[in-house]
Amino acid sequence: PTTRHYNFVVSEIPGAPDGFSKPMLVVNGQWPGPTIEANQGDRLVIKVTNHLSNRTSIHWHGLFQNGTNYYDGTAAVSECGIPPGQSLTYDFETAIFSGSTWWHSHFDTQYTDGISGALIVHPSDPAPKGFPTWDEELVVELSDVYHTFSAAIVEQYLTGTGPVQPLVLETPDSGAINGVGQYNGSTDYFDFELQPHKTYRLRLIHTGSAAQIRFSVDHHPLTLIEADGTLLEPYTVSGVTLLVAQRYSALITTNQTAGPYWMRMELISPSNVTGTTTDVRGVIRYGTKSKSLPPAGPDPGFPGTGLADMDTTKLTPAVPDIPPDRSRFYSVPFNIGGTPSGGTIATMNNVSWVPLVGTNTLLEIQQTNGNYAPEGPSTELGNQFIITEDTIQTIDLLLLNTGFGEHPFHLHGHRPWILGFGNGTFDGHDLNPPNPLKRDTFAVPSQGWLMLRYISDNPGPWTLHCHIAWHMAAGLLMQVNSLPSVSSKFHIPSDIVNQCKSY
Ligand code: C2O
Repeated sequence: PTTRHYNFVVSEIPGAPDGFSKPMLVVNGQWPGPTIEANQGDRLVIKVTNHLSNRTSIHWHGLFQNGTNYYDGTAAVSECGIPPGQSLTYDFETAIFSGSTWWHSHFDTQYTDGISGALIVHPSDPAPKGFPTWDEELVVELSDVYHTFSAAIVEQYLTGTGPVQPLVLETPDSGAINGVGQYNGSTDYFDFELQPHKTYRLRLIHTGSAAQIRFSVDHHPLTLIEADGTLLEPYTVSGVTLLVAQRYSALITTNQTAGPYWMRMELISPSNVTGTTTDVRGVIRYGTKSKSLPPAGPDPGFPGTGLADMDTTKLTPAVPDIPPDRSRFYSVPFNIGGTPSGGTIATMNNVSWVPLVGTNTLLEIQQTNGNYAPEGPSTELGNQFIITEDTIQTIDLLLLNTGFGEHPFHLHGHRPWILGFGNGTFDGHDLNPPNPLKRDTFAVPSQGWLMLRYISDNPGPWTLHCHIAWHMAAGLLMQVNSLPSVSSKFHIPSDIVNQCKSY
């Protein structure tokens, strides 16, 4: 294993990813931020310096941070945020994660303004026998774009003080592929110049804040081989839909007539209030020196081929990983709704998460020597719903969406098994899928349910939240706290302890 060093400087700059000028928060002056690429087992040492006027923190989405929960980068849970003018050096191992993922600010909704980038970890295990191969890899970061600074959107969204409805605030203005989008007639496209007759692994990463994204490439089928770090049995589709923070790897072969082809990204906002989808494009070209654009016109599709879009129930792990039987079960209803003043509030188990100012959960655990919350569900900290286990248990968590809209939930520090999901109320039947998919970001259907299974063997407080930036800000977040008697003995770096003292 190698130690890889990175220097991240977070600052505010003017930007115009889709042609519309706006203030952005970025790392090293660019959006998307730098791609981190490592081999499984490598150590990553990333010095983050904050040149913003507010605090910040960086989260390494999907990494397990086993033994280093304090470097998970989640404001108010594992740290208090890097104060303006100061630095924090994150230092952790990629360990058991491999695959496609990303890093992003986990302080308020800052990542919406541009603090995000790709994180690619190449596996140390050889691919399973017969697994497809590829010639080259490309990172494709897909995001929705908002023209208003996210703090201003959130303020209106939560308080209802603005001229527009929360559902309209959730709707993006446009989107971008690798930082380039189109708004109001702008004709800048992110352009991949590829070689003919080669197979490319597109690492599709949804780094956006709210919208669902459908991705496709004209005349080119996509063969899915990875979902959130889990290798899949190859599954060929005409298009793939990603929810916020999800990742897929798709193989594409440049075997059509030489020329330019559209990469298409359709954005479907959570409420879809406008009733329209936003169409954002990029270009893949090969076998030609010409810089011309592909023909105008709608997605030609794959008539007569029987090829269909991805159906998530057909995603099958290439290497079966069968979970142990459950030893605990919890049911957690959640809801997002309006306040009397026209704002928005979200709850999990009737508690709306509010970040504790000037402290974090890990420090709380240490200060009380691991005994700050009893085993099982509790609201010991008032504004935080936490499930604590101080022994290693196999936990089934039933997430019950009592409201409208699909929510992309993410569990930190784990890649849980998705045992099942559905519409309506869960009827309690036994869920024993033969080869369940493990992934860290998963959809809880509108007025529906999802059952996940995780093992409480990774010490520390981890968040489980809806990854829609506005929903997280409205309190759609809880924590799972595993093995506090172990995490209470962690040596928390003094820079992190001092962050909280300086609040
Ligand atoms: Cu992508 Cu709580 O994180």
